[in-house]
Amino acid sequence: MSNIITMIAPVNIAVIKYWGKRNEELILPLNDSVSVTLNANVMCAKTTVCVSPNFLEDEIWLNGAKESFTNQRLQNCLKEIKSRAAVERSVDDIFLTWKVHICSENNFPTAAGLASSAAGYACLVSALAKAYKIKSDVSSIARLGSGSACRSVYGGFVRWHAGVESDGSDSIAVQIANKSHWPEMSALILVVGDTQKKISSSKGMKLSVETSDLFQFRVQNCVPKRVEEICKAITTKDFVKFAEITMKDSNQFHAICLDSYPPITYMTDTSYKIIEMIHKYNNIHPKIKIAYTFDAGPNACLYLLEEEVPKILSLIQHIFPTSTPDKFITGLPIQHEKIDTDLIKIFSQPHQKDLLKYVIHTKIGDGPTEVIDGSHLLNECGWPTNLH
Ligand code: DP6
Repeated sequence: MSNIITMIAPVNIAVIKYWGKRNEELILPLNDSVSVTLNANVMCAKTTVCVSPNFLEDEIWLNGAKESFTNQRLQNCLKEIKSRAAVERSVDDIFLTWKVHICSENNFPTAAGLASSAAGYACLVSALAKAYKIKSDVSSIARLGSGSACRSVYGGFVRWHAGVESDGSDSIAVQIANKSHWPEMSALILVVGDTQKKISSSKGMKLSVETSDLFQFRVQNCVPKRVEEICKAITTKDFVKFAEITMKDSNQFHAICLDSYPPITYMTDTSYKIIEMIHKYNNIHPKIKIAYTFDAGPNACLYLLEEEVPKILSLIQHIFPTSTPDKFITGLPIQHEKIDTDLIKIFSQPHQKDLLKYVIHTKIGDGPTEVIDGSHLLNECGWPTNLH
């Protein structure tokens, strides 16, 4: 069937955080943000869409379970795809009246709290855009699903311009550099063993806008300068500058959370132990080697250059001992290295076991791509191939 499309889309982790909206419905941010798109072979969302005259209603299945299509964000995305297709005259009018079936899954546990909505909506919108043959930029449509999703529409390093227009037409993501510009850039996701229920990003940022005094200072005085500086650091491959700004921006974002009222705490004791480890490691080197950043949860994303990966992994295994060593490091293959004896002396006190669940090793990656091996999540009649 020709109207069936399957895509995979990557996760992105911001180095300058998006936090705060000026328009809740159109998901328009108060500040620009910058992110790194990660390799979709390691972590991705996969979505199949099928448009057919035989369907009676729009339907969606997420991670093996049927979900309601009444979700406003989902409806906004589909509506915008159709009106874009109408403007571009990319499909016949009759095609626009047909219903759509959508089936989507993540290849990583949603419970890990790892930017799943960004990959999910970027994938959904990219697959719909392909099905409706849309040629123009779709980051502003992905944005309607989840703000951070607009950055997953591109690979490499991406800047989301907040824009100034009230209709959001200039609130789009733009690629700063593709993945081959800085292929050594690597990431380690440290999944913290914590099941604490947290306030969603949407609710959290609303509370910060309404109650934090520091918030306005960040938006007006800090972010604009940082965005320019980090874009320059990316273009010139200045890792030290890139890392310093990344860490400072993560810290400031969490300070804003704490300055919200009532305060929001996303980081846990283990998160702070990771921060301590990274600063201690950086301090014993003449230059910064690793950066950390934390989103709306306790997990860390470490950015570092390829050559540093085996060394820091040996240190992590030493400081954060695990009872499941075989499953501890996942993702891209690594060259195992024995920990340096000097490092053991400096980091002489390992923490208790299992503070970290596992580590994902990944790299910078491309934007959404079509899956052409026929492994659709919907069968030829448009029904899920795999339901729980
Ligand atoms: C901390 O994109 O999840 O990860 O637009 O309300 O869906 P909504 O929020 P979302 O917020 C992401 C916040 C963040 C920072 C970032 O990714 O820039």
